[in-house]
Amino acid sequence: MIVKFVNLTNYYMSNMVLYLRRFIGVSLLEINSHSVNKTRLFSTRKTWSSSKTAFLGILGLITGGTGVIIYSLDQSVQAGELELHPAKFKWAHNGLFDALDHASVRRGYEVFKQVCASCHSLKFVAYRNLVGVTHSEAAAKAEAEEQMIDDGPDEEGNMFKRPGKLSDYIPAPYPNEEAARAANSGAFPPDLSYIVLGREGGEDYIFSLLTGYCDPPAGVTIREGQNYNPYFIGGAIAMAQPIFEDSAVYSDGTHAHASQLAKDVVVFLKWAAEPEFDDRKLMMLRMFGFFGFSIALAYYAVRTKGISIKTRKFALKSHVTGKPPVTRSKKCD
Ligand code: HEC
Repeated sequence: MIVKFVNLTNYYMSNMVLYLRRFIGVSLLEINSHSVNKTRLFSTRKTWSSSKTAFLGILGLITGGTGVIIYSLDQSVQAGELELHPAKFKWAHNGLFDALDHASVRRGYEVFKQVCASCHSLKFVAYRNLVGVTHSEAAAKAEAEEQMIDDGPDEEGNMFKRPGKLSDYIPAPYPNEEAARAANSGAFPPDLSYIVLGREGGEDYIFSLLTGYCDPPAGVTIREGQNYNPYFIGGAIAMAQPIFEDSAVYSDGTHAHASQLAKDVVVFLKWAAEPEFDDRKLMMLRMFGFFGFSIALAYYAVRTKGISIKTRKFALKSHVTGKPPVTRSKKCD
């Protein structure tokens, strides 16, 4: 062990000396080339017996072979998956410099309210979150007041309903999970606040799911209360097709094509899942700007102030002759 350590230290030291020698170009620093060569040839494998080599070889083959079998089995299972993978769409907010399309977020809110809110909750979004994003404060207040919210208990201990306030969260359509399941043939409509982050494929998947309903292919039977959607795992989804042409009305007069409705609601859900999306990108741009400037400054400083250190030349004196050593030409190195 100690011998090994000494050998290694010797090796690194010799290498350092080699570099130093090349760097300053002098023959002063002689090295023990014999020990370098010896340690370079150092290998633990040489001490193995032939049976050990054979055993380790077979072990390697078995491990590698098992890995290949597992990989091919995994690939064959994946090839058997029946659902379609969503296409990659070019969302307006995908680029490095692109914020969310806020007109689309606002239209998406209208679609959510008119279509999805009858089954899905959005329990992490409050009306106050809409202020400055899709609505003015007065408009968001009016939106909240349209809803009757459970409150209480009052002085007599009774629960009561009151019009919503900006601080209220968007109310859920069902009082509890059991009621939601009972109304949807046993399936629970998930909360949509973080659904874009919670599903593989994000916006692409949800857009494809909403617009992908079709008749089941020959040989596939769908049970009562289920619908066929090739993008959903297993193909049978309890949610009936929610979006058709004109199934919501836009206040800004945009024509409500099915794909327009689906796209807008997905952009709205993206905002719901990542309300800090725009700020994050702005912050990133500022950070890159700042670091870019700092790097340019550092480069300038190194090239101007540091240049005297980089171009400094050392001249060593031999302690034997008392003269500067002979500088070797490149060829001798
Ligand atoms: C009639 C009720 C109903 C309406 C309206 C409805 N959904 Fe659903 N949704 C469901 C149910 C039920 C499920 C659970 C499906 C399942 O697990 O089979 C579901 C599931 C989902 C899922 C999850 C799919 C998955 O991968 O697990 C998403 C996303 C979704 N709905 C989005 C929407 C959007 C967006 C709207 C509005 C455009 C909407 N839904 C309207 C009932 C509804």
